[in-house]
Formats: sequence, structure tokens, C-alpha cells
Amino acid sequence: MTFTEDALKGRVAVITGGGGGIGFGIAKAFAAAGARLVLASRNEERLQGAIKEIEGMGGEAIAVQADVRNYDDVARVVKTAVGTYGTLDVMIANAAGNFVVPAAEMSPNAWKTVIDIDLNGTFYCARAAHPALKDSKFGGRFIAISTTRALEGWPGCAHAGAAKAGIMSLIRTLTGEWGKDGIRCNTIAPGAIGDTEGVKRIYEDAGRREHELSSIPLGEFGKTADIANAAVFLCSDAGAYVAGADIVVDGGRNRGRASPIVTVPNK
Ligand code: COA
Repeated sequence: MTFTEDALKGRVAVITGGGGGIGFGIAKAFAAAGARLVLASRNEERLQGAIKEIEGMGGEAIAVQADVRNYDDVARVVKTAVGTYGTLDVMIANAAGNFVVPAAEMSPNAWKTVIDIDLNGTFYCARAAHPALKDSKFGGRFIAISTTRALEGWPGCAHAGAAKAGIMSLIRTLTGEWGKDGIRCNTIAPGAIGDTEGVKRIYEDAGRREHELSSIPLGEFGKTADIANAAVFLCSDAGAYVAGADIVVDGGRNRGRASPIVTVPNK
């Protein structure tokens, strides 16, 4: 147990992509901290497994099958959350799609697919949740998942890099517009998180595991729990004055990359 059992007590959270990976890691940490959950995903079977596990640990969660590319689906998720629990305090736009393909070979539909899931899906989550978040007695929280790669460029993932850069801009805009509504908008930028599909696809399947590891100052991949802890902090009372921030949770990878140590041999 990292946070107290009541750190998120009384709060209701929607987590898209909540059936697995980082989303499910956040779900478990939120349940352990007393939040009630609505997990949304395209994959109903995965969702049911996730709900069972949350219930097994004494948590409360329901599943809503939804594709974040479809605004009506996202609106239905929000409606179900408010209809079931009477409130919505936290929206975590976590659902994402990504695959490695050089830009010169990327089909227009491949580009559009990732932009639709990552960028459009994040806006849909924000837009649909806004009225409920505004009414939250805790001060609403909107969290989107980004990446430090968004600003440095992401060879092999032009679509996801551009989408995540768009998400960072969106969060800055929403922070300015929705602060008056008490809504705190932030991004969390995970580094390479070892127990996820993303790392498997982007690094392991591409034969880049060791190369990636060597670029992380802390010397190891992160865990979904590391991202979840940042999310619990942002959504708890302790995170009340944090808005418009990019919380980087990457073992120092971003700094390591930015400042390579060049050794010059003595003459
Ligand atoms: N390389 C190149 N192009 C790819 C691709 C790959 N690995 N995977 C998908 N595409 C292209 C398809 O060819 C298609 O383009 P086309 O119509 O020009 O052929 C387009 O992308 C859409 O693919 P499709 O499989 O129909 O999309 P989908 O909606 O079923 O699924 C994802 C797309 C991204 C959601 C899918 O890859 C997926 O399920 N990913 C798992 C989740 C994930 O990525 N997690 C990691 C997050 S970091």
C-alpha cells in the first residue's frame, strides 16, 4: 500500500483503456485508495477480467464497452458513471494505440487511426466529462497520458508522437479554460513501462530492448504502478494545486537523452 486507503475516498473515476496495461495499473491503485471506478475499453472480455480482479481486492468497479474514437460511446461512458454513482470526479484519458512504422511507409489510414484514438479520443473524453467534472465536490481532475517523445520527435511513431504533442497542447488550453470550473488538467508522461503492450511492441519486438534500457539513468524499465502512483497523487487532495503540468515518470530517460556525456580521450 503506497497511499492511504482513503486517499481517493468518495471519488468516482472513469479510466479509458482500463482493462489492461497502464490503465489497469491505475485502476488497481485507485481502488486501493478508495475510488469507485468505471473502466472503458473496446475489449469486453478484458474488461470483465479487470472488474473481477478489482472486486477481488475489495474494490468497486463497473465496465462499459466503448471505442474512444466514437463520441457517442464516450458520452455513454460518462452517462453510465453519473447514472450509477451519482457523480464523476476524475476522467483519465488513457486509451491509446500505437505501432512502429516509418513515416514514408505509413498509410494515410494508419496515421488517421492513431490520431483518432489518441488525440481525438482524448478530446472526446474531456468534452464529454466537462459538465460532471465541473460539478465535482472535490474539484474535477482530467488526466491525459502523453510522452516526452512528443516534443523531441519519435522516429517510427510519427502518428503517436504528433497525437501526444496535440494532447499536451490541449491540456494547456483546457487548464486555462477550465481552471475557473475547479477542474485540474494535467498530463502524465510515462517512460518505458516494462509490463505493457507498448514496450513489447515498440522496443522488444523491434529488437531495441537493451538499447532502450541503456538510455534510462535509473537503469530499469518502469512499472505500471509507478504511473498509477502519479495519478493517485494528482487526483487526491495532495494534488489540489497542480494544474497544467506534465508529470514525467520515466526513470530520468528524458534528461539522460538530452545530455549525453561525451568523453574526450586524453592526447
Ligand atoms: N504497421 C503498419 N500499419 C499498421 C499496423 C502496423 N503494425 N497496424 C495497423 N496498421 C494500419 C493498418 O494497415 C490500417 O491501414 P490500411 O487501411 O491503410 O491498411 C490502419 O493502420 C488501421 O488498422 P486496423 O488494424 O484496421 O485498426 P484497428 O482499429 O483495428 O487497430 C490499433 C489499430 C492501433 C488500435 C491496433 O494496432 C491495436 O489494437 N493496438 C493495441 C493497443 C496498443 O497499440 N497499445 C499500445 C499503446 S502505446
